[in-house]
Amino acid sequence: MSNIPVPPGNVQWGGRFAQGPSAIMQAINASVGFDRKMWRQDIRGSLAHAGMLAHVGIISAADEAAIRGGLERIGARIEAGDFEWSEALEDVHMNIEARLTEAIGEAGKRLHTGRSRNDQVALDVRLWVRDAIDGLSAQLQDVMRAMVARAAEHAGTVMPGFTHLQPAQPTTFGHHLLAYVEMLSRDLSRLADCRRRLNECPLGAAALCGTGFPIDRHMTAAALGFDGPTRNSLDSVASRDFAAEFLFCCAMCATHLSRFAEEVVIWTNPYFGFVKLSDAFTTGSSIMPQKRNPDAAELVRGKTGRMFGALVGMLTVMKGLALTYFKDMQEDKEGIFDSAETLTLSLAAVAGMVKDLQPNVARLAEAAGAGFSTATDLADWLVRELHMPFRDAHHVTGRLVAKAESMGTELAALTLTEMQAVEPRITDAVFGVLSVAASVRSRTSYGGTAPANVARMAAEWQLRLAP
Ligand code: ARG
Repeated sequence: MSNIPVPPGNVQWGGRFAQGPSAIMQAINASVGFDRKMWRQDIRGSLAHAGMLAHVGIISAADEAAIRGGLERIGARIEAGDFEWSEALEDVHMNIEARLTEAIGEAGKRLHTGRSRNDQVALDVRLWVRDAIDGLSAQLQDVMRAMVARAAEHAGTVMPGFTHLQPAQPTTFGHHLLAYVEMLSRDLSRLADCRRRLNECPLGAAALCGTGFPIDRHMTAAALGFDGPTRNSLDSVASRDFAAEFLFCCAMCATHLSRFAEEVVIWTNPYFGFVKLSDAFTTGSSIMPQKRNPDAAELVRGKTGRMFGALVGMLTVMKGLALTYFKDMQEDKEGIFDSAETLTLSLAAVAGMVKDLQPNVARLAEAAGAGFSTATDLADWLVRELHMPFRDAHHVTGRLVAKAESMGTELAALTLTEMQAVEPRITDAVFGVLSVAASVRSRTSYGGTAPANVARMAAEWQLRLAP
């Protein structure tokens, strides 16, 4: 970044100022180092504004054409990496406007009529967040499609279901993946809600009170794809709740990805041995030759922290601000950019891992039967067949589990005689419910883990997510 010298007193407000800012003032004030990420949105907003100014006769058609041409050339140069940003010009807005005026003269100076950087930045951030939401939503659907495909493939692949990370009841790998699909589908709809709420255009609120120029805010709002203009000029320049909401959406989605990542870390641990990631999604150790580390999963989990930080940062920046704009609000951007970019990377990594991972079907089946995982099925059998109250059935089953445990064996390996020593009315038929396959097959309640349910649900998701 260059330091194009600015005449004493800033070019943009030179009138009142005799001296330029101190170096430290410039350093703390400048945002162009990060807000130049919004150059596309800034140009888009300026084009709409200029088009409207000409339409209502505030500037001439010739000026508008000059502005349009100038902005398009600036956009092309930024795109090509051939634009010198100046810290002395503070931010993306003034860099582009100053360059425009340099290039086209007089007409460039008319662009800012009826506008302030306060409504301009409120607009740019909204446009940037809206673009980010669109990108993230598409990516979320990619991850969901990947999970649904694996779920369909493994609708009947049994695995242990856990509570407290203790073996609880057998489930299927497909059912487990579809649980994440549900979480991600809520993240997707949260982003859609956020988009709907932020989709009002603040442009034309000007500094804070609107303007006396006969601008057409409905026109600029429509040109920029908004549902309409915001209704209160003070609110328009003072509010960033859309940003906080977006950051919450990111933090929540990151939390879901982090839980999945944690499972990948657990599953790939050799003591579990549930899934294997290929060399494409593992790293080795510089000292321990045997290692295969699930670093991508660990980083998806770890990166969640900075997204929480951005959310708390945003809320904290806003909480003490009287109406309307304060420079504090310039601090909204880096967290937004970082969260969106971090989540983009995390979603890509999770999509990659989901496609890559290979469940060890035999190991999952073996683990699914361990830890007396069908004890609930036994208790349910006692209720159904012997009409025992559930609490009594729970107690009897507990004694049978204790017996099997003390004999170092599984429930299904007890003989009928051994069972009858605990509850004499038990019959042979009980063995029909003690297998893992029988257990999952029986759980046909809506949303339950039965492979037939899972296959049906996966098929429904496939339809819903069809591109
Ligand atoms: N760079 C500023 C920001 O990000 C733009 C708005 C400046 N407005 C002002 N009144 N100084 O918030």
